[in-house]
Amino acid sequence: MKLVTTRSELSKIQETGLKNNTIGLVPTMGNLHQGHLELVKRSLQRTQKTMVTIFVNPKQFGPNEDFEKYPRTLEADLLKLKELDGADNIVVFAPQSTLEIYPEGFNTTIEVQGLDNLLCGANRPGHFKGVTTVVYQLFKLSGADMAFFGQKDFQQFKIIEKMVHDLSLEIELEMCPIIREPSGLALSSRNQYLSSSEREEARLIKETLDHLKELFLENREKALKKREDILFHEPRWQYLEVLDGSHLTEVSAKTNQVVVAGAFLMGDTRLIDNILFDL
Ligand code: PAJ
Repeated sequence: MKLVTTRSELSKIQETGLKNNTIGLVPTMGNLHQGHLELVKRSLQRTQKTMVTIFVNPKQFGPNEDFEKYPRTLEADLLKLKELDGADNIVVFAPQSTLEIYPEGFNTTIEVQGLDNLLCGANRPGHFKGVTTVVYQLFKLSGADMAFFGQKDFQQFKIIEKMVHDLSLEIELEMCPIIREPSGLALSSRNQYLSSSEREEARLIKETLDHLKELFLENREKALKKREDILFHEPRWQYLEVLDGSHLTEVSAKTNQVVVAGAFLMGDTRLIDNILFDL
């Protein structure tokens, strides 16, 4: 496995180690857990070389969000990657300066309009612009043929998919399943902010999503009413939505995939989750 931290090291490695290979990209902000590692494993299966990027992207954090305290654990992350089968085919790009991604004077923003003003976008203004700007930059710097993202951030995936489509980027995307704790809680770097009782209580997130799915399949009206009741009685839900999974619009007669998505405030920690199902 190779570690590079600058753009110039990255272009050197592209001329030598990566040339004439298919490249899979796994963008992350580090503090790797099994959810991230499954993306890397999938990329190792599907492409010849895998580039894992580890960069806590300041552009996607709001002024009162956790950019400063976001866990940075590069040494431990590298050990986890090294232990994977096929680790020889991994290049880690972990810039130590923001200037490697956004050079002096960088003044461009990539924004996908429309999909970014609902769900997480409604509560985190500017967040998805930060995501699409960094992801575009990582696509270009890596020269990747494929990129792997988790369903955990479903809206993020849909927005990146739209960017790739609108800008005719030559990269194939794959969305990988959500990896969960035995309780059902989706793995997240932010779970470590939770106390043990909060972590226990957090199982209600997935349970609520599953319950809405069951109700929806039984009786749509009942499910939508239940959703309203939950939002009314439990203010810690920042949002809880049942939407058309292809377009993130209201479910209609044309809908064939549904997403139930929620964001829950557990103390100071914002947890997101979703489930997808076909009709
Ligand atoms: P980060 O939160 O580190 O997540 C990196 C990738 O891991 C994302 O594609 C995310 O959906 C996926 N992931 C996280 N938890 C997961 C889980 N429990 N199961 C499956 N996949 C999971 O998402 C970001 O970073 C950033 O926005 C990024 C795309 C790197 C841009 O900065």
